[in-house]
Amino acid sequence: MQLLSSLLLSFLLVGAEAAVPKNKYNCTSFIVRVPIDNVTLIDLPFPPFADQYAATAFANQVTIRTPSVPKVNLSSLTTTFNISAEYCTPAVLGPNSSTLHVLTHGLGFNRSYWDFYLPNATNDAEYSYVNRITGAGYSTLSWNRLGIEPSTIADPYKHIQTPVELATLISLTVLARAGNISQVPVPKKVVHVGHSWGSVLSLGLAALAPQVTDGIVLTGFSGVSDYQNLFIAGTSFHLASENAPARFPAKQYSTGFLTWADKSANQYAFFNYPHFDPAVLAQAEATKYPFTFGEFFSATAIPSKAPNYKGPVLFLAGEADLIFCGSNCTGLYGADSATVKAFNGSSSVETYIQPNVGHGINLHKNATGAYDVVLDWASRHGL
Ligand SMILES: *[C@@H]1O[C@H](CO)[C@@H](O)[C@H](O)[C@H]1NC(C)=O
Ligand SMILES: *[C@@H]1O[C@H](CO)[C@@H](O)[C@H](O)[C@H]1NC(C)=O
Ligand SMILES: *[C@@H]1O[C@H](CO)[C@@H](O)[C@H](O)[C@H]1NC(C)=O
Ligand SMILES: *[C@@H]1O[C@H](CO)[C@@H](O)[C@H](O)[C@H]1NC(C)=O
Ligand SMILES: *[C@@H]1O[C@H](CO)[C@@H](O)[C@H](O)[C@H]1NC(C)=O
Ligand SMILES: *[C@@H]1O[C@H](CO)[C@@H](O)[C@H](O)[C@H]1NC(C)=O
Ligand SMILES: *[C@@H]1O[C@H](CO)[C@@H](O)[C@H](O)[C@H]1NC(C)=O
Ligand SMILES: *[C@@H]1O[C@H](CO)[C@@H](O)[C@H](O)[C@H]1NC(C)=O
Ligand SMILES: *[C@@H]1O[C@H](CO)[C@@H](O)[C@H](O)[C@H]1NC(C)=O
Ligand SMILES: *[C@@H]1O[C@H](CO)[C@@H](O)[C@H](O)[C@H]1NC(C)=O
Ligand SMILES: *[C@@H]1O[C@H](CO)[C@@H](O)[C@H](O)[C@H]1NC(C)=O
Repeated sequence: MQLLSSLLLSFLLVGAEAAVPKNKYNCTSFIVRVPIDNVTLIDLPFPPFADQYAATAFANQVTIRTPSVPKVNLSSLTTTFNISAEYCTPAVLGPNSSTLHVLTHGLGFNRSYWDFYLPNATNDAEYSYVNRITGAGYSTLSWNRLGIEPSTIADPYKHIQTPVELATLISLTVLARAGNISQVPVPKKVVHVGHSWGSVLSLGLAALAPQVTDGIVLTGFSGVSDYQNLFIAGTSFHLASENAPARFPAKQYSTGFLTWADKSANQYAFFNYPHFDPAVLAQAEATKYPFTFGEFFSATAIPSKAPNYKGPVLFLAGEADLIFCGSNCTGLYGADSATVKAFNGSSSVETYIQPNVGHGINLHKNATGAYDVVLDWASRHGL
């Protein structure tokens, strides 16, 4: 009874927070042709899932006590993808505007994760990283990862694999730095900000192409992989085309496109009760995007350590992150942790645990508190 009433009380307090006024920022959306050259692919050692039963059975195999590593053949991919991106600046440019935040979203979202509004509260910017960061004068470039329309919906088994996604992020960054994206002025500095899978890719970029970044911010991420099976179990590899056929028709989204069942599965993996607005959960579920089999299958094919990256790093964790911390991040980011040691050549590694929030940091109450942690870090590191 005591517990129940204190939960109710905290829910009321959380619900009572005021709206965040929207700053003036201008955004432009466009398609960038992003080339990738000779990227290693893993040939699937078994046929694509025939149906939902096969997909769910594979989820069992991934989470088995005695995992086996199949022998695979490698091949390579050289191609050009269409990447949907959005460039935003403050309406009035200032000294910070030549620093570009490249924003890479995680599984289950499109780039709107970084600029999230409830449909009935489009002037309340409490969930918009873009609003807060452009409000401090910076520019942002967010992009829809491969498989997320209108970016190329490539083959989710053969081509949407982790090394391909990483090569795409590196190539997009190189294009922006070279002034080869006509909508994006050449930035003086580039900060890579990831969420979850986007952090996995941003870390990979720091490892493979440390010269193209000046700052790394990894949100919703740790170097601990022990709890990722909870995410897999929580999705049981629902086929996107069966779960949401109107949005993900089987013709376009083969059995390699996966998702979770419903709003409750979404809450389990991404949200920490009661520190979110149920309307936000409903909106996140209604606008979710699939992840791919290829991403999982090739997840360990990119580096998870970046010893040659020299610049500053910020880890921004959600206190109750299920996927990367087993719902308790406290104690996992010490100086001796694998997470921090992944950047042993960095000038500075800082860690911050945002109180009360789950994995989907931007979609919780007090998200702007987390954005301010990034701004404070940036100003202290001359970014
Ligand atoms: C592609 O990369 C592989 C190593 O990953 C290398 O052996 C091969 O020579 C490369 N091919 C071309 C055409 O660059
Ligand atoms: C690898 O390629 C060889 C030669 O094409 C083939 O015989 C073998 O079955 C392949 N192995 C796998 C695991 O696909
Ligand atoms: C942003 O848009 C407003 C209104 O169209 C315009 O007056 C302003 O110059 C734009 N700012 C930038 C930096 O493009
Ligand atoms: C990219 O877009 C162009 C123009 O819409 C289209 O012709 C092409 O097939 C697309 N390429 C890929 C790889 O999606
Ligand atoms: C940028 O565009 C120029 C002119 O088309 C080209 O020469 C150069 O190779 C491009 N650079 C990159 C990184 O794509
Ligand atoms: C928006 O709609 C949700 C239900 O979807 C409701 O809970 C919330 O109070 C509404 N917010 C506003 C500002 O009207
Ligand atoms: C993100 O997804 C939602 C839901 O499909 C859609 O309304 C929105 O336009 C998408 N945004 C981008 C940037 O693709
Ligand atoms: C989280 O873990 C820390 C350190 O192991 C522990 O002190 C703390 O009580 C845990 N928090 C919760 C909510 O269980
Ligand atoms: C940093 O870590 C790498 C492995 O990622 C290791 O090879 C290297 O010796 C370490 N450097 C220092 C200074 O400890
Ligand atoms: C909001 O976030 C900031 C930054 O982490 C923190 O200092 C503050 O205590 C948080 N507020 C609440 C009500 O949790
Ligand atoms: C630039 O950003 C920093 C935060 O990183 C902020 O403290 C500073 O006020 C900003 N400068 C301007 C001119 O907006």
